[in-house]
Amino acid sequence: MTTAVLGLQWGDEGKGKITHLLAKDADMVVRFNGGPNAGHTVIDRGVKFGTHLIPAGAFYPNTTSVLSSGMVIDLKILREEWDMLSQHLGWQPRLLIAENAHIIMPYHRELEELEGSGKHFGTTRRGIAPTYRDKAAKVGIRAGDLLHPDIASQRLKLRLALLNREWPDSQGIQSLDAGVLLEEQLSFAGPLLPFIGDATEAIHQAFDSDLNVMFEGAQGTLLDVDHGSYPFVTSSSTTFAGLGNSIGIPMPRVDRRLGVFKAYMTRVGVGPFPTRVSGELEERLRTIGGEFGVTTGRPRECGWLDLVALRYAIQLNGCTGLAITKLDVLSGFDEISVCRSYRLNGKSIEKFPLAAELLEKCEPEYETVSGWGDPISEVRDSAELPKQVMEFVALIERDVGVPVEIISVGPEPEATMMRK
Ligand code: IMP
Repeated sequence: MTTAVLGLQWGDEGKGKITHLLAKDADMVVRFNGGPNAGHTVIDRGVKFGTHLIPAGAFYPNTTSVLSSGMVIDLKILREEWDMLSQHLGWQPRLLIAENAHIIMPYHRELEELEGSGKHFGTTRRGIAPTYRDKAAKVGIRAGDLLHPDIASQRLKLRLALLNREWPDSQGIQSLDAGVLLEEQLSFAGPLLPFIGDATEAIHQAFDSDLNVMFEGAQGTLLDVDHGSYPFVTSSSTTFAGLGNSIGIPMPRVDRRLGVFKAYMTRVGVGPFPTRVSGELEERLRTIGGEFGVTTGRPRECGWLDLVALRYAIQLNGCTGLAITKLDVLSGFDEISVCRSYRLNGKSIEKFPLAAELLEKCEPEYETVSGWGDPISEVRDSAELPKQVMEFVALIERDVGVPVEIISVGPEPEATMMRK
C-alpha cells in the first residue's frame, strides 16, 4: 500500500500528527517538498516535538525516512533535528538524503532579507524561495555535491561571482568565501554524509519489493506555487500532482491519497483569506487551537471552514479519503459557520478563483449548523461523538463527495478515530 498525506488548506492542518501515526506501519516515509519553512507538531512517547525537515518515519526504528529531491535542506537545522531526535529515541533514525535535493546556503537567507520578501509575502525567512530559484537557474548546490568537495567548491565559486555582481553594495554578500562556506556545510553534515544517495532508485526498489511507502507533504495545497493564490504561496509543489515530478515516480503507484484539513481555517503570512473572522471570535479560535507558527511563532489568522477552498484542494489532489483535525477546538460554540460559496461582484460562485486579486474580493456565504456543548477531546470511539459533530462531518462529506476516514480530537496520538 502506498499512501500520500497532503495538506488541503494553507498549511498547519495537523499533518504532523497524522503522518506520525500512519508512519508506524510504513517501511519508508518520503517527504516530498519544502524545507524548514514547515513545522510538524508531533507527540511521541509523551514528548512534544516541532520537526522541520526529518520525516515522521524517524520515530520508528525499522522505517527509512527519505528527504527527497523535491526538498530544500538547511544542513544546520537538519543536524540539530537529527541530534535531538537521536537523543530522544535512543537510536539514530534511518535517513536517506536525496543526492539531488538542494541545499539552503547562508546567502539564501541573506537574499530574502535583502529583497524584503519576508515583509512583502510574509515568508518564513528560511531562504526557501532563493534556493528553489537557484535550482531552476541551475546555480544551486546539491546534497550530492558535498560528496565531491572539488565540484562543490567550483559551483560555489561560480555562484558567489554572480552574487557579487548582483549585490556590489552588500557587505554580507561581498564577504562570503567559498572555502569557508563549504567547510561549514561539511561540518554540519558530518555524520549525515553517508546517508546521501540515490533516493529515487531506493523508492522504486521499495515499490518493486511491495514495501509500504508513505509520502509526506509539507505546507498545504493553497500554498502551491502553481495552484495556490500566487504570489502569496510557497515555492514548491505542495500537491499530489507535484509529488511524482519532483521525486521521479509514476503517479499510479500511489493508491491512497489522504487529504488532511482542520475543522476551521488558519493562515500565517500575507495573502487573501475569505473566511477569516475578527476580534473575540478569532482570539477564541487562536487561543483554544494554539494557533501560533511552529517555525516562526507568529500568531495565525483564524476563520471558519471554507468548503469552496476544500473542494478545490480535493479536486487538485484527487483525494481518496480525508482526515479532519482539531474538531475539539469547536466544542462550546452554540453555532458553527461553514462557507459553501462566495459572493463575487454580486454573483454567488462555487469555484475557488485562482487569482489572488479575485480571492481578495470574495465574501463568504455561510451556512450555520448547531454546535455541541460538551468537550470531545476524551472521546475515542466515533460512535460516542455528539450527534451535532457527526452532522457537521456528514455535511462536509456530502459537500465534497469524499469520505472522512480519520477524526482527530486532540494532539495526542490516542485522540484519533479511524472510521471504516
Ligand atoms: P516561504 O515558504 O517561507 O517562502 O513562505 C511563503 C508563504 O508560505 C508564507 O505565507 C508562509 O507563511 C507560508 N508557509 C510556508 N511554510 C508554511 C507552513 O509550513 N505552514 C504554514 N504556512 C507556511
